[in-house]
Amino acid sequence: MTVILGIESSCDDTSAAILKDGVVLSNIIASQKVHEAYGGVVPELASRAHQQNIIPVVSEAIRKAGIGIQDIHAIAYTRGPGLLGSLLVGTSFAKGFAIANRIPMIEVNHLQAHILANFIKEPGVESRQPSFPFLTLLVSGGNSQLIVVHDYLDMEMIGQTIDDAAGEAFDKCAKVMGLPYPGGPVIDRLAKTGNPDRFVFNKPQIPGLDYSFSGLKTSFLYFIRDELKKNPDFIAENLNDLCASLQKTVVDILLTKLKKAARQTGIRQIAIGGGVSANSALQNAVHKEAEKSGWEVFIPRLGFSLDNAGMVAVTGYYKFLAGQFVGLDAIPFART
Ligand code: KG4
Repeated sequence: MTVILGIESSCDDTSAAILKDGVVLSNIIASQKVHEAYGGVVPELASRAHQQNIIPVVSEAIRKAGIGIQDIHAIAYTRGPGLLGSLLVGTSFAKGFAIANRIPMIEVNHLQAHILANFIKEPGVESRQPSFPFLTLLVSGGNSQLIVVHDYLDMEMIGQTIDDAAGEAFDKCAKVMGLPYPGGPVIDRLAKTGNPDRFVFNKPQIPGLDYSFSGLKTSFLYFIRDELKKNPDFIAENLNDLCASLQKTVVDILLTKLKKAARQTGIRQIAIGGGVSANSALQNAVHKEAEKSGWEVFIPRLGFSLDNAGMVAVTGYYKFLAGQFVGLDAIPFART
C-alpha cells in the first residue's frame, strides 16, 4: 500500500490531496479570491495567500482522508513551472514535512501532472483511463501544447504555443471587455446565449503543430477599440455575441492542430487537460470530431482539470513506483 500527500501551489490555488494506491481520498483546493480586483494574478499576493492557506489545506486533506500523518509514505509537490514565489511556499512546506516525518520527497512537473490527472481514481467511481500511447491537448493559462504520452513518465511534446497560451487569450480578451478574472469561465457562460458566427477574427497561419494566440488577442483589442469609437455601448450591446465569436475562434485554432496531430501520429485516443479543457465549446467540438474520426476522448472532471493536488499526488505515485525521489537541495523552476 502506498499513501502519497500531494501539494500544489504553482499559481493561485493552494491545494493538498491524499492518494492511496492511485485512489484519491481527499483533494482540498483553496482558490484565492484576492486577485479578482486586479484582473489577473498578483504574484506577491499569491505567495502570501499560499503561506496563509497551506497548513489549513493540508490538515483538512489529511482529516478528510481519514488517515494519520504517520500513514503517509511520501510527499509529492509541484516544482514548476509556475510563479516562483508561489512554488517556494509549496517546496518549503514539502521540505519541512519530509524532514519532520522522515519521508522522501517527489518533485512533480505541473504540466505532466495535468496529463496524468486522467489516471486519478475515485473511490466507488468506475473510471475510464486512456491506454498508451495517447495524444494530449494541454491548454491552460500558461500553456498550449500537444503531447504524445508514451507512458506515465515518458512524454513527447510535438507542438506548443510560440507566444500566448489559449487561457491567456481568453483572460486578456475578457479584460478588454471589462469582464472579471479569470475570464475563460465567464466567456464560456456568456457565449452560451451568443451567436458564434456574428464576428469573424483572424486565425494564425503557423506551420507545423505549433500554436499562436497573441495575434488574435491584438486584433480583438483593435477591433473593440475601433467599434467603441463609433458606439460607446458596443461591448454592452454585443457582449454575448463577442464572447461566442471569440470562443469559436479559439476552439477552431485548437481543433485544427489537434486534428493534424492525430492524423500525423495515427493516434485516436485523445485526452484534453488544463483549465481550458473545462470550456464547453471545446469539449463539444472534440466530442463532435470524435464521432467523425473515431476518437476515444478523455477529459478529467472539473475538480481534476483545474489546478489541484490530486493530479500532483497521482504523478507522485507513479514516480514513487519508479523510485524517482528528489533531495532536500531541490529548488523550484518558474519556466519549462
Ligand atoms: O490549469 P489552470 O487552472 O491554471 C494554469 O494556468 O495552470 O488554467 C487556468 C486557465 C485560465 O486562463 C482560465 O481562464 C481558463 O483556464 N479556464 C477556462 C475555463 N475554465 C478555466 N477557459 C475557457 N473556458 C472555461 N470554462
